[in-house]
Amino acid sequence: MRKREKNNIILIGFMASGKSTLSKSLEKNSGFIRISTDEMIAEKMQMSIGEIFANHGEEFFRKLEVEVLFTIIEMLRDTSKKYVVDCGGGIIYASNFNELKNYGDICFLNVPYEKVLDRLKNDKSRPLASDKENLRQLYRIRLKDYKALADFEYFGTVASDFVKDLDL
Ligand code: S3P
Repeated sequence: MRKREKNNIILIGFMASGKSTLSKSLEKNSGFIRISTDEMIAEKMQMSIGEIFANHGEEFFRKLEVEVLFTIIEMLRDTSKKYVVDCGGGIIYASNFNELKNYGDICFLNVPYEKVLDRLKNDKSRPLASDKENLRQLYRIRLKDYKALADFEYFGTVASDFVKDLDL
């Protein structure tokens, strides 16, 4: 993999691709400060992501993603700190996502669909994972969009390999 250019790491990828696990490991072992877009949204609303979808709908949730991204962009401007951002799977479509790109290297965690499906089979927390036909369709569309945005693509699952590959 090529050398990183920016201070911060932005993790993108499909639901259950390992963004949360990896970002927690980078926080614990590599000195990054972790930010999770979903956790920020849940905290702001004092509701789970599932409850936000159920009570207010997806469109409302997408607006919240834009709002928290603005806050995150402000945080990433502080170059004295290094952040890892665990992005919700659909945040790449937020109108200000491109701006975020200026403040960190975008790393796409590329996990095969079968593995995603297996990890999501008993998941109740992700509203978009309940209809498996839709999920497959979503994966197909998203895959090319993640690839197009990524500065780096990572196929592994082991945090220490990620650290080595990205020279963190
Ligand atoms: C979504 C992914 C979820 C969460 C929401 C919508 C998506 O985050 O933001 O359920 O559109 O892919 P994870 O990618 O962390 O599961």
